[in-house]
Amino acid sequence: MGINIRGRSFLTLLDFTPEEINYLLDLSAEFKRLKMAGVEHKWLSDKQVVLLFEKTSTRTRCAFEVGARDLGMGCTFLDPASSQMGKKESLEDTAKVLGRMYDGIEYRGFKQSVVEDLAKYSGVPVWNGLTDAFHPTQMLADILTVKEEFGDLRGRKLTFFGDARNNVANSLMVVCAKLGMHFCACGPKDLKPADDLVAKCQEIAKETGAVIELTDDVKQGAKDCDVLYTDIWVSMGEPAELWEQRIKLLRPYQVNKELMAMAKPTAIFLHCLPSFHDRNTTIGEEIFQKYGLESMEVTDDVFLGKQARQFPEAENRMHTIKAVMYATLK
Ligand code: CP
Ligand code: NVA
Repeated sequence: MGINIRGRSFLTLLDFTPEEINYLLDLSAEFKRLKMAGVEHKWLSDKQVVLLFEKTSTRTRCAFEVGARDLGMGCTFLDPASSQMGKKESLEDTAKVLGRMYDGIEYRGFKQSVVEDLAKYSGVPVWNGLTDAFHPTQMLADILTVKEEFGDLRGRKLTFFGDARNNVANSLMVVCAKLGMHFCACGPKDLKPADDLVAKCQEIAKETGAVIELTDDVKQGAKDCDVLYTDIWVSMGEPAELWEQRIKLLRPYQVNKELMAMAKPTAIFLHCLPSFHDRNTTIGEEIFQKYGLESMEVTDDVFLGKQARQFPEAENRMHTIKAVMYATLK
C-alpha cells in the first residue's frame, strides 16, 4: 500500500513509522534531483504557508522559504516583534486565525506543547522547526546525508558527542531507533538523555533492530563509528551563564582530530549548525577572551577537513523540508 501522510502535522518523528520516514527521505532525494536538473516543480501553487519563529534561524527559515517558493506557494514570515503572537494574542487565538488563512504552519520556539497546541487549534498541518525537545526536520536532512554517503543505514553507528539531552540529540536517538541504526549518546552523566525517551527508543529498537547506547567514554563513543555528530554546548533559550559550566563538562567531548582518528577511517562528521569552530563569531571571540578556547564543540581542522559533510547536510535541509511540506499538503 502506498504511503500517504496528507493532512498530518510533523511534530516529532515518534509519530511516524519507519516506512513513512523512508518515504519522506525518498521524496527528498527526488526533489533534490529535480532541483539539480532545473526541472520546475510548482505543484502547490494554490497554497499559502506561514512561518512563525520565536527563536532565530538561518537554515530552517531559508529552507522553508525557498522550498515553499519552489513549490509555487505563497509564504509569510512572522516573528514576535512583528506580530501580535504571545504579547497581545494567545497562541490558541493565533492558531485559529492562521488556520483560516494558511494551508500549513511552521513553528520554531520553546515548548513542545506549543507546537502541539498550534496543530490542535489551527486545523492545518503544523511543522516543528525546532523546540526545546525536538528538531525533526533536521533529522531528515541528516539521515539523507548519511544515505548519500554510505548508501545504506541499517546498523550504521552514529554517535552524538556533547549535550546529549538537547533537542538535536533527542531527535537523533528517535530517528536512529526508527531506522534500525546504532545510536550512541556520548556525553557527561549530567547531560544524558531523559530516561523516559531512552525507554521509548529502546522499545522502538526492539522492533527495528536498532541499538541505543549511552556512554560517557569518548573512546567507546568513537569505536566503530560511521558518523560523528555534535552540536553547540549551550542551546537557544538557555542562559548565557551556563557557558562556564558547559565548557568544563563538555570539553572532553570536543570533536577533534584525535577523536576522528578513533572512529572508522570512512567516518564522516556532521553538525546541524550553527557552529563555534573558530573565533569568527561574537560569542566565539568572547569565549576565547574568557576561557582561551579557539574552538568549542568541533575544532577547525575537523570542520574544514575531508570527512566533514555539514554543508551538504545544510543544503539537504531545503530538499527535505520541501518533501515534508509537499507530502502533508498535496
Ligand atoms: N540547523 C538549524 O536549524 O539551523 P538554524 O538555526 O539556522 O535554522
Ligand atoms: N541545539 C541547538 C540546535 C540549533 C539548530 C539549539 O537549540 O540552539
